[in-house]
Amino acid sequence: MSGVIERYHSWIGLPEGRAISLSEGSTPLVHWDSWGHSNIFLKLEGLNPTGSFKDRGMTVAVTNALAEGAKAVICASTGNTAASAAAYAARARIPALVVVPQGRVTKEKTLQALAHGARFLTIEGNFDDALHAVRQSVQSIPWLALVNSVNPWRIRGQETGAYEVVDELGRPPEALVLPVGNAGNISAYAQGFRRYSGILPKMFGIQAAGASPLVQGHDIPNPETLASAIRIGKPASSASAKEAVAQSQGAFLSVSDEDILAAQKELAHGGIFVEPASAAAYAGLLRLRQDNRIAGGNIVVVLTGHGLKDGSTPNAWIDASTRLISAGELGEALHDMIGVAQHVAH
Ligand code: F0G
Repeated sequence: MSGVIERYHSWIGLPEGRAISLSEGSTPLVHWDSWGHSNIFLKLEGLNPTGSFKDRGMTVAVTNALAEGAKAVICASTGNTAASAAAYAARARIPALVVVPQGRVTKEKTLQALAHGARFLTIEGNFDDALHAVRQSVQSIPWLALVNSVNPWRIRGQETGAYEVVDELGRPPEALVLPVGNAGNISAYAQGFRRYSGILPKMFGIQAAGASPLVQGHDIPNPETLASAIRIGKPASSASAKEAVAQSQGAFLSVSDEDILAAQKELAHGGIFVEPASAAAYAGLLRLRQDNRIAGGNIVVVLTGHGLKDGSTPNAWIDASTRLISAGELGEALHDMIGVAQHVAH
């Protein structure tokens, strides 16, 4: 399978040359459910090479950086961008520097970045502070490419998510629901739909209640949510995100951490395991249904990152569900479980 640069070469518009790719993109669009006249589809972006949607933008940003003579890449991150930048830099055989907020990135994402050989810096403060510091510092270093979503090539790469949805459904969906942190992805999907199909679906951007600057209409100095990927108080791409939502008559909605955990569980019980930031989008969809705002047609929810990227939230499930038995007790325990299974099957 080819990556997004090969699949959508003319739409991305990179000059000819070697693509730095890990065969990202072409992720499943799962028909999840039908609600009245609506069909709900889930786009499983956690199935990208590093487990999040970031790979779509990173292949393009790193390929372009290399073509322009960059010797290294740098990003600020809540974790997924760091993991993706580290992987694509490793693929390109150049160093990656990642700057993350102290104590705020999951162990799993930290491990990914380190495994791929990234130079890892933790700074005091939150993601917004990290991004500000990184943007300041790159200005004086011409050979260092910034690969956050403020890099237009990142956005161009992430547009391919929209192209794939259009290709798969045969037309744009009626609505798109996705989590919003730094607001790069919602901007990319909007631009992707506009460019590829000329039609902008209703865009619903979902934020965690404690980190919801776009819902509240002002920056949040100390954002808080268990969905660490979207713990962002000052989104860099807020202007284009607001434009997309206004133009499409969509909305920004916030969901509580409790709603996020419930949504994560509901998806998992249907066979799909996503990290909390992605579950926020599904929680947003449930809210839209509750408010009777699902008006029919195809609704696509973008599930941005895999559940294995964040081991912190499911600990409660593990503690509540594991049962220690001796080998001699296995027969009896199985008997109980078979009873339950038969009950469910009937
Ligand atoms: N979902 C996940 C899993 C993310 O990692 C992010 C952002 C988002 C949603 C929001 O996307 O920022 O384009 O609005 N993660 C960034 C990072 C900030 O550093 O990994 P956005």
